[in-house]
Amino acid sequence: MMTSDQVRDFYTQNAWLYHRLYIDVLRYGRGMNAFLRQSGTLEPNLKILDAGCGTGNVTRQVLDVARRGGITGLSLHGFDLTPAMLDRFRQWLHREKVEAVDLREANVLEPHHLPESWIGYDRILSSAMLEYLPKDRLAEALAHLRQRLAGDGTLTIFITRRNILMKALIEWWWKANIYTRDELREIFRQAGFDSVTFHRFPWPFWHLNLWGLVVEARNSRR
Ligand SMILES: C[S@@+](CC[C@H](N)C(=O)[O-])C[C@H]1O[C@@H](n2cnc3c(N)ncnc32)[C@H](O)[C@@H]1O
Repeated sequence: MMTSDQVRDFYTQNAWLYHRLYIDVLRYGRGMNAFLRQSGTLEPNLKILDAGCGTGNVTRQVLDVARRGGITGLSLHGFDLTPAMLDRFRQWLHREKVEAVDLREANVLEPHHLPESWIGYDRILSSAMLEYLPKDRLAEALAHLRQRLAGDGTLTIFITRRNILMKALIEWWWKANIYTRDELREIFRQAGFDSVTFHRFPWPFWHLNLWGLVVEARNSRR
């Protein structure tokens, strides 16, 4: 496993490659967009956190789905460990003249670095970030995120699944952890979530189900 400093260096060097390969070529951005549309998770006036936002994949798609669906009044926050990833996201926000997204540099394992007002989220979305934590600290990170949810808020994570292909592509090449459904069920339980629901990317983005598991947990124990 890489330390946080090594992850930051890795994504400083590979920010362009990540975005080009996964978001553009493998169509993760469009798959995320289709998932958000199909799930109906976006509604007016939600407070949303993109945890480990990187170059902004999730928030960009939230903005697009909201614009097309006439969903207004969203409050959008994002944080990430790597300034180089945040810079790319900021450049995009600037180009698109989007002002409604507040970004911070922060480590999910050191949540006290986030503003005190960053609580009470209706939705927390986290894509392809939590696999960079040591496995024995994933429950701790999920518990931190849970504390930032509103009473009826939901946390949805997109995380690499364990299979032979991902062992080569993600564990070895991109130096991240991979998970089974059972492992995630148990880790969410340790983080204080009563139950989780697994979802899938819709057609024509089924190939993304080979990469990842989509796990939704509701903040039911507050
Ligand atoms: C594979 S990229 C995913 C970015 C984005 N969420 C997406 O869906 O494209 C992984 C991101 O996780 C961030 N990351 C890794 N460990 C982190 C941590 N402990 N706290 C916050 N961000 C972290 C990295 O800086 C990187 O931007």
